[in-house]
Amino acid sequence: MDPLIAIEGVSKVYPMGGGDVYALRDVSLEVQEAEFVSIVGKSGSGKSTLLYLLGLLTEPTCGEYRLRGRKIDGLSDVECSRVRAREIGFIFQSFHLVPQIRVLENVLLSARYAPDMSQQEARKRARELVERVGLSHRMGHRPTELSNGEMQRVAIARALLTNPSLILADEPTGNLDEENGHEIYELLESLHREGTTIILVTHDAQLASRTGRCIRLKDGEVENGSV
Ligand SMILES: Nc1ncnc2c1ncn2[C@@H]1O[C@H](COP(=O)(O)OP(=O)(O)O)[C@@H](O)[C@H]1O
Ligand SMILES: [Mg+2]
Repeated sequence: MDPLIAIEGVSKVYPMGGGDVYALRDVSLEVQEAEFVSIVGKSGSGKSTLLYLLGLLTEPTCGEYRLRGRKIDGLSDVECSRVRAREIGFIFQSFHLVPQIRVLENVLLSARYAPDMSQQEARKRARELVERVGLSHRMGHRPTELSNGEMQRVAIARALLTNPSLILADEPTGNLDEENGHEIYELLESLHREGTTIILVTHDAQLASRTGRCIRLKDGEVENGSV
């Protein structure tokens, strides 16, 4: 069977005034379905770039990306958003919630990417997810009335609305204290146990050591022996 993710010889180059910046350099790796992989490396080593590339939010300068064996390079923007909507949920360090609307409505924002889901279905699922992340009592609150840990739970519920098979999380515990960070990690672990593939960028060596596999980036390259 094809791996969920296969990238080969991928580089991402930003042409800058002072010369080209290689955010990623000749990266090749595979991630199998239902794996839990962490990505670690110093700030600026290319972790976010790799994650955004895997999430079809940015294109490689060169190299090949296959998702479930399907070549991604060359897909139109519309096709890319379709693949993203069907397959991928994102979680960010800074939550990216909309402050003016309530918790349930924030979760429902993802519904626009799931045209097959009726409004009624989406609302039902959103409620269930808010309950699942332990925030039933905060359903009608606005993000500004929540703690950081609660905001990240909302962001996770939002990422799960479309039932993605792949969760990409960019330092999701980076703005949380240790206790909340561990709770968010445990939420990811429970999704993994249900079969979701998780790719987690983290600074936390302790968390990284708990995942099935750890990929180390250094100056845009995968460090030897870490794939
Ligand atoms: N849009 C961009 N334009 C120019 N350089 C960028 C851009 N995005 C990232 N970079 C550079 O690419 C490198 C990797 O960045 P990033 O992937 O954000 O690293 P990390 O997430 O590991 O901190 C850094 O040197 C960064 O400055
Ligand atoms: Mg980053």
